Amino acid sequence: MTDHYAVMGDPVSHSKSPAIHAEFARQCRQDLRYTAIRVPSGELRAAVERFRAGGGRGLNITVPLKEEASGLGAQPSARAARAGAANTLKLEPDGRLWADNTDGPGLLRDLTGNHRVELRGRRLLLLGAGGATRGILGPLLDAGPREVVVANRTVERARELVARFACAVPLSACGFESLQGERFELVVNATAAGIHGQLPPLPAGILAPGAVCYDLMYGAGAAPFLSWAGEQGAALAVDGLGMLVEQAAESFLLWRDVRPETAAVIAMLRAAPG
Ligand code: ATR
Repeated sequence: MTDHYAVMGDPVSHSKSPAIHAEFARQCRQDLRYTAIRVPSGELRAAVERFRAGGGRGLNITVPLKEEASGLGAQPSARAARAGAANTLKLEPDGRLWADNTDGPGLLRDLTGNHRVELRGRRLLLLGAGGATRGILGPLLDAGPREVVVANRTVERARELVARFACAVPLSACGFESLQGERFELVVNATAAGIHGQLPPLPAGILAPGAVCYDLMYGAGAAPFLSWAGEQGAALAVDGLGMLVEQAAESFLLWRDVRPETAAVIAMLRAAPG
């Protein structure tokens, strides 16, 4: 029987994950199929059980189910436990369930591998304190920046988040207004503002010369932040399409024990936007 993988979320009909994994499977000669399954809030547990009974072997979990996924009783990997959030599940036929978070490694591979951005010694600003930030903060701290500041609309949420991540790198939380007069060499937008065509209220002049700006979103959702970055003189402003493919490759590796090549798949998606 062909192994079945899927992304579960709501909405999922526009997900690029089925196309990405189909390419990976072709490239790595793996006999699998990957589909998008719409699962409304509150129905994840039942959907996962149905999926497993039908031969399902692995899942990506997306909005709005990420919190629910943490209540499934899956055994978390070290990085999923650290993030307190998972985006990937591996289902064993005997009923065991493994949870992993491939967002952070995906971002790091895109930033440092594909875009050749050096993080070591840099002053880094992370915008947002939701699930997306939780997934990437640990791996960003591990990359050896000089300092990390997490800025969020709701300051308390940023404070709670940084309190979870004790580490050697100086790490602090603040509101957007406190960024006035500060300078950063890398700014990562992990807020959901772009979904609504909005931009976090960032003061002008916070980009150091040669600064890099990265939006975890791609397409229209990344546009407000990337155009701000251009106006503010960023040396490089990139969207999260590469991260999307890289986190998918990490999930594929977890499921199939083989790492697919990503460059051609990123190029394919860039050539066919939408
Ligand atoms: P996700 O899992 O995508 O991170 P989330 O947990 O709902 O989703 O978090 C969304 C993040 O985007 C939060 O940091 C949120 O700020 P608050 O914690 O203050 O709600 C941020 N966000 C959403 N819309 C925003 C906007 N218009 N301007 C600034 N930040 C915004």
